[in-house]
Amino acid sequence: MKRSTKNKILVTGASGLLGLELTRCAKKSGYGVIGTYNENPNLTDKDYVNLKCDIGVAKAVNFLDKKIGKINTIFHCASMTNIDKCEKNREDCWRVNVVGTRNITELAKKQGAKLIYISTGSVFSGVKGNYKESDTPDPKNFYSWTKLLGEEAVLAYNQGIVVRVVPIGIHSIGRPQANFIEWLVDSVSNNRSFNLFSDVYINAISAKTLAGLLLKVPEVLSKGILHIGSRDRLSKAEIGQVVISKFPNFSGEAKIISVDNMPGNFAARPKEMWFNIDKAAKLGLKMPNLKDELELILQKNDSNTKK
Ligand SMILES: NC(=O)c1ccc[n+]([C@@H]2O[C@H](COP(=O)([O-])OP(=O)(O)OC[C@H]3O[C@@H](n4cnc5c(N)ncnc54)[C@H](OP(=O)(O)O)[C@@H]3O)[C@@H](O)[C@H]2O)c1
Repeated sequence: MKRSTKNKILVTGASGLLGLELTRCAKKSGYGVIGTYNENPNLTDKDYVNLKCDIGVAKAVNFLDKKIGKINTIFHCASMTNIDKCEKNREDCWRVNVVGTRNITELAKKQGAKLIYISTGSVFSGVKGNYKESDTPDPKNFYSWTKLLGEEAVLAYNQGIVVRVVPIGIHSIGRPQANFIEWLVDSVSNNRSFNLFSDVYINAISAKTLAGLLLKVPEVLSKGILHIGSRDRLSKAEIGQVVISKFPNFSGEAKIISVDNMPGNFAARPKEMWFNIDKAAKLGLKMPNLKDELELILQKNDSNTKK
C-alpha cells in the first residue's frame, strides 16, 4: 500500500550501499524521501532530493534542518565504515561516527522525529556469538568503539532506536571494493589472490532486504535496540566460496586462514560477529536465509561475471 507523502523521511548516507537501497525502497513505498551524501553525489539517484551535508559539522546539520522542513523519521546510515581506515585516521572516524551521530541526534530532537541509527554487530567482542540486544558490548577496534558511542547518544533520546546489522551487497550505481562482497567480486573478477577468514562468522543481510525491514522498524518499536540479520550464519570463507563459484574462470588463489594470522597492519576483528534475531522475529520481521541473500546479490552480477 502506498503511503501518504506526509510520511517524510530523511536518509543520511544516501550515497552508501544501504542508504541508496533505503531511499529507493522508501520512494517505491510512497514515502517522501530526502537523502544526504557527503563526497559522492554521483552515487545517489538523480531524480529526487539529495542534499550535501557533512554530518561532522554542526553548522551543516543546522543548515540541513532549515532546508528539509518537517520530517517524521530519520534513518541514520552515514558513517565512516572502513575499519582499517578508522583505525589509522581516528580523528576523522571520531568526527563522523561520534560527533556526526550526536549532531544527527540533535537534529532528530529539534524535529521531534524518530531516529533509527544503523550500528554494527562488531560492537561485541565476538567471543561467543548469538548476541542478544541485552548483552554487554565490548568493541575490539576503534570503528566499533565509535559506533558504540553513537549508540549511546541515540539511546539517550526518547525516540532513539539502534538497529545492529551487517549489510552486504553490491552498490547499485557502482563503486569498487567498498564492502566485503564488493571487494570479493572485484578481486575475483580481476583474478587477484586473497585471504579468506575461516573463523569470522556473520549473519549478514543484503542491503536490499534490509531496506524493506528497516522501514517497518518505526512501526513495531518505539525505542531501544534491535538486531536484524539472516537466520543462518556463514564464515567469510564460506561466503567467499559462494562468490568464487560464480566465476568459473577465476585464476587467482583464495587462501583460507584464521583472522589471527592476517599479515600486516590490520585492525582487530571480532570472530563470532553474529547475533540473536529472536526479538525482531517476535516483532513480526521476516528475516531471510544468508545463502539465498548471496544468490540474490550475485544474480544481478551473473551476466558480467560468467565471461
Ligand atoms: N559495510 C559494512 O560491512 C557494515 C557492517 C556493519 C554495519 N554497518 C553500518 O551500516 C551503515 C551503512 O553502511 P554502508 O555499508 O551502507 O556504508 P557505505 O556504503 O560505506 O556508505 C557510507 C555513507 O556515509 C556517508 N558519509 C561518510 N562520511 C560522511 C560525513 N562526514 N558526512 C555525511 N555523510 C558521510 C558516505 O557519503 P559519501 O560517499 O557521499 O561521502 C556514504 O553515503 C553504517 O552505519 C555502517 O556503520 C556497515
